[in-house]
Amino acid sequence: MNCIRKITDDLTWVGANDRRLAMFEGVYHVPGGVSYNSYLLTDEKTVLFDTVDKAVRQRFLENLAEALGGRGLDYLVVQHMEPDHSASIIELAAKYPEMKIVCNRMTLEFIKQFHDFGADQRVVLVTEGDTLETGSHKLHFVMAPMVHWPEVMVTYDSKDEVLFSADAFGCFGALNGALFADEVDFARDYMDEARRYYTNIVGKYGAQVEALLGKAAALKISIVCPLHGFVWRRDFGAFLEKYALWASYAPEESGVMIAYASVYGNTENAAEILACKLRERGIKSVMYDVSVAPASDVVAASFRWSHLVFASTTYNAGIFVAMEAVINDLVSHNIQNRAVAVIENGSWAATSGGLIREKLGKCQNITFLGDIVSIKSGLKADQLAQVEELAAAIAATFPAPATDAPRQGIAAAGDVDAKAFFKLSYGLFVLTTRDGAKDNGCIINTVTQIADNPRRISIAVNKANFSCDMVLKTGEFNVSILTTAAPFKVFEHFGFHSGRDTDKFLGCDDSLRTANGIRYLPKYTNSVISGKVRDAVDYGSHYLFVADVTQAVTTSDEPSVTYQYYFDNIKPKPPAPKAQKVGYVCKICGYVYEGEPLPDDFICPLCKHGASDFEKIQ
Ligand code: FEO
Repeated sequence: MNCIRKITDDLTWVGANDRRLAMFEGVYHVPGGVSYNSYLLTDEKTVLFDTVDKAVRQRFLENLAEALGGRGLDYLVVQHMEPDHSASIIELAAKYPEMKIVCNRMTLEFIKQFHDFGADQRVVLVTEGDTLETGSHKLHFVMAPMVHWPEVMVTYDSKDEVLFSADAFGCFGALNGALFADEVDFARDYMDEARRYYTNIVGKYGAQVEALLGKAAALKISIVCPLHGFVWRRDFGAFLEKYALWASYAPEESGVMIAYASVYGNTENAAEILACKLRERGIKSVMYDVSVAPASDVVAASFRWSHLVFASTTYNAGIFVAMEAVINDLVSHNIQNRAVAVIENGSWAATSGGLIREKLGKCQNITFLGDIVSIKSGLKADQLAQVEELAAAIAATFPAPATDAPRQGIAAAGDVDAKAFFKLSYGLFVLTTRDGAKDNGCIINTVTQIADNPRRISIAVNKANFSCDMVLKTGEFNVSILTTAAPFKVFEHFGFHSGRDTDKFLGCDDSLRTANGIRYLPKYTNSVISGKVRDAVDYGSHYLFVADVTQAVTTSDEPSVTYQYYFDNIKPKPPAPKAQKVGYVCKICGYVYEGEPLPDDFICPLCKHGASDFEKIQ
């Protein structure tokens, strides 16, 4: 029995998973394995998009034969020649002698470098904008150099609006039976691996990824089929927004990533103290010990967070070896647009801080905050002030926490204003909960009045939300009904962060609580309803809570926001692709020369190849 899955009536996934691979590309740990995706289109002609790594070749060949159902293979489209996708070309060539290879000129050269089977006799060369009709489908070829190698192209099937996106939109992790991203909780369980995949594999090539996003923006895309990870058939917007952020080197989140290298724990201690002082100022912090954390984790975190702190001991008169590898990795991945602070340690001649600054100073738009905190062996009491100053210098670059003007708390238990229920629609609500000293809140979209006497409501809450756990535990909640005046920042604040590691009410007035002691939102809402849970039913992704209403108060006459209103008027549209850069890209290493013309004697500063190895950015 073979393991294949249908994507559309005539498109089938025939790839395979590898969970035994220790290091992807020899560099990146893949604890969840990896998938190698290959797709078969069965039209009047049969067309295969890419192959798989040699480790899973046998399974792939069997899958392909099953999906072909006795038919031959007319075309193999080679979008990317990295061997994890091209290793099985030679077996296909032997097994399907009629098979033509559709690729661009550089791909053909790479095929001949890797394989000897007479590729010239089978090739159908294509370039930007060329098409191939396969019966009812029409394939359009779009060049995507340096996403992630210079020969990369992607393919668009205009009939079913499918984009075969090569390495773009890929993700580490075996598929575990779920082919589609909507079959898993991608944001919760896979976004970190998607970020680690993007930043480490194609993070260096932001300009080229932006060029591809610009081309893709002109296409109507319903399905995205990458070479690794899940197929996207819905809800692609959030992932696309992440890609636009990553490609532009803009941070995803405000907070501080602290990476430290410490031989005997003293540099680590200074880093820990800094992290505490940041948290005391309400600033998020994450920490990585570079001696044990894989460099790819630190690279991914550096793309995620707005502020970076590097704390390193001095070793052999330089940066500690593991930290130096991380810093070099970040420089070669083009890290930019970050605020950076540095701590160094050295028992007799501390040099690591200056060297870290020197390396990162060559990256674009790096702002160094505060002075280097220089420790001799161990942090002394009289140096605490320097760490405090560094924390203050970092904190000064964060916006002050929002503090809405306080209104009176709503304290009268048992008050139930019927008008509050008239405000319910298929809308958006802030669900608030309290467990001891912990207040929390999240966005939900389903609140319904289900009985009038006694007054009862139901709410549906995604199990991934920390608030769901809290309601299950405490049995009480408030629902604040949002109005059309609510700005996107409210949805972002309550919807895009987890209460597990965020205090969503930091800086808010503590008196704004209903009689049950739970917070409510006084602004951008028109009513608040308090509930005491009677029943909780597990419906898969969500819990449905049925609750007695203990209090209901109308707070304004502003109209409630509906789901439709939110999407039409509040949620920002995906960012428009940036204007195409004018310039040339090195086909060997991806370095971008901005400007026109490219001097004939230009030498690539990264790989030292000459002007003939550059091509104009399309
Ligand atoms: Fe999985 Fe660049 O290849």
